[in-house]
Amino acid sequence: MDGRDLVRSVSVVGAGRAVRGLRTVRAAWRRRRIDAAGLPRRGAERARVPGQVAGVEPGPGGGVIRFGRSELRITVAVNGPVFWGWDGAGPEPSYALAGRCPEPDPRAVLEPDKDGGWRVVAERVTVVVSRHGAVEVCTPGGVMLRRDLPPRWWEPVGGGTARWMQRSEVTADARFFGLGGRASGPRLREGAYRLWNTDPGRAFGPGTDPLYLTMPVQLVVADAGTHLVFHDTTWDGTVVLREGEEGAGSGHDRAGRCEVRMDGGPLRCWVMVGTPARVLHTWASLTGAPALPPAWALGHHHARWGFGSEQEVRRIVAGYQERDLPLDAVHLDIDHYDEHQVFTVDQERFPKLPVLAEELRRDGVRLVSIVDPAVKAAPGNAVYGSGSARDAFVRDASGREVRGVAWAGESVFPDFTHARVREWWGGLYAERLDQGFAGFWHDMNEPTSFNAFGEPTLPRSARHDLEGRGGDHREAHNVYALCMARAGYEGLRELSPEERPFLFSRSGWAGMQRYGGTWSGDVATGWPGLRASLSLVLGLGLCGVPYSGPDVGGFDGSPSPELYLRWFQLGAYLPLFRTHASLRAGRREPWEFGAEVLEHARVALRERQRLRPYWMTLAHLARRTGAPYVRPLWWGAPEDRALRDCEDTFLLGDGLLVAPVLDPGADRRAVQLPRGRWYDTVTEEAFEGPAQVLVDAPLSRIPVFARAGAVIPVRGADGSPELEVWAPARGRTGGGLVVPDAGDGWDEPETERYVARRQGREVVVTREREDGSGEPPYPVRVRGLG
Ligand code: GLC
Repeated sequence: MDGRDLVRSVSVVGAGRAVRGLRTVRAAWRRRRIDAAGLPRRGAERARVPGQVAGVEPGPGGGVIRFGRSELRITVAVNGPVFWGWDGAGPEPSYALAGRCPEPDPRAVLEPDKDGGWRVVAERVTVVVSRHGAVEVCTPGGVMLRRDLPPRWWEPVGGGTARWMQRSEVTADARFFGLGGRASGPRLREGAYRLWNTDPGRAFGPGTDPLYLTMPVQLVVADAGTHLVFHDTTWDGTVVLREGEEGAGSGHDRAGRCEVRMDGGPLRCWVMVGTPARVLHTWASLTGAPALPPAWALGHHHARWGFGSEQEVRRIVAGYQERDLPLDAVHLDIDHYDEHQVFTVDQERFPKLPVLAEELRRDGVRLVSIVDPAVKAAPGNAVYGSGSARDAFVRDASGREVRGVAWAGESVFPDFTHARVREWWGGLYAERLDQGFAGFWHDMNEPTSFNAFGEPTLPRSARHDLEGRGGDHREAHNVYALCMARAGYEGLRELSPEERPFLFSRSGWAGMQRYGGTWSGDVATGWPGLRASLSLVLGLGLCGVPYSGPDVGGFDGSPSPELYLRWFQLGAYLPLFRTHASLRAGRREPWEFGAEVLEHARVALRERQRLRPYWMTLAHLARRTGAPYVRPLWWGAPEDRALRDCEDTFLLGDGLLVAPVLDPGADRRAVQLPRGRWYDTVTEEAFEGPAQVLVDAPLSRIPVFARAGAVIPVRGADGSPELEVWAPARGRTGGGLVVPDAGDGWDEPETERYVARRQGREVVVTREREDGSGEPPYPVRVRGLG
């Protein structure tokens, strides 16, 4: 969305820059006025640091260390995550946690350390607290992973929320990842990253920060180990990062630095240590297993802002069918609503949606609906009426409904931080299900209000329920979309208990994966946008949200045929594979870019379909282990520094390595391979890693490699599953996991384990079960034997 869309769609902003400028100034002034009336004045502040250790109180899994001016509570939980909170902060309440805080690990004990400090020794981590309140996280072998200096608070003298700052050091070789969806990653270089979910108001590129989905989650990868740190605070904040540098020759190392500043909220965090897989598993145990998308959501989706009519939807679907291009879902944007109001249908242009939905479903195509949170504040609007009757909308400090501006014009915003409001909102999806929609696309939920308050969201003084605790938008903003996702997800479970809900959301926060996925938002059409698309998917996966993908082709403008194709080829290997574009952008159908692009796009689409059993397996494994489908190259070898710096290649599960083309004019590219043998999946040529190899990347395909020994479930020629097995190197074995598709309900199929052994020129594959090994139940096709 950008300002021009607003002018077009909503008649609140007059045309012309001068008028807009004036409005912005007025809007900023209006917000200041609202916030000045609704928020306590900050006034003078007093700085505070913890002071010296004054005493300790051991407790289960750790204990409390008292300092002159604060206290620190440390608890090691079962399965290894460590919690600590200053000023007595405990782990609950928390929007990130999936349930209650895990039980303390009784084996972890608080004991004295040198120089008057204390430490907690646990199985996977030792936490050392100095007598001034510095906190070190070390491996069981005593190697330092992270050192937090004593924190600092600034407290308003007249009382109120303290701001705080936490500086940390990591080793010189460490690399930072995460912080939600970042366009300039996945490796987060020196810079300031804001923690405030934001619609940038225009199509974004690698320099745009923040974006729609931020979270205070850092994944830090270093020689000594990988750790994830999560500052469990929903307030506005900034993280300033600076990678370290190793001293050349006799020079000193310069440590990596991280500074987290928050405008409020508790200073508390969770840390988990281990291999990347272990860390993500622990993270998912804490914040919730990723929702399992229905099988169809792992196929190809086509969206468009501005289909404009049922006929056009039919024309597009027919276009796919006539050209023998697989299609699994069509997404309807706001133009199918009646005057842009969510939970309505424009009956003139979409008079028989349920019939259309049924027709499409018979052809294997599902309908997905956009859902925006804003509700047009007009007396005739039924959603507004029912919401008002339940007191569902956000109010300001004086008790008036906060009115912003959204697609439908002057609008109010449901307070999703209230259980009653979530329940009401969840019930509204009944209308969508009756229209035949099978999936939901949450949008504009940062929440976005077009500049009505000087920035594109609600005023900070807006009041929220916050689960009965009461608070304002400063605290609720970042979890607005998370709570909306919960409302949608829980509503759908109620309304349609037999089916797994499918939803994905533009904004979100830690724990978002419990309800669904996300997508990259309005990525700018251009080669930098293509690169940013991959950065977002990788970064979000490392924050525990494994299902996402970009608008293939970019949101605005018209991609060149080459750019479109390269985006399409990348998208085919990302969890959410969706073409989408703005109202004013050029076409995005694969046949709109000439015969050559069409042919190559068809190959990518077919390969996506062929790999569907693998995608289903990856979805199940993400749910069971927290491992993202799309993983950085260093996933299995975080100690390999060359891999840590490689940002243009990724692993898809354990078996495949994908090297997208991200630059124009390329017909070859360098690919960094991790240790082991890798086969080019098209030529079957074998390469030995670790190495950097130069391979062909003609327009017809992007390079994809299979790991020697990999057992990958695919669709055979007749559509039924078979195992594609890539020959292990001589003297080696391989293997793979398969979780079969068990329909779109709640069945939990067993994970099947396969082992591949090389016996001379043969490869033998067996299924391993507890009661012995046996023949696989699927046909096996061995590749790479040369
Ligand atoms: C926002 C969304 C985009 C959608 C548009 C209209 O810009 O990010 O995907 O098409 O709104 O609803």
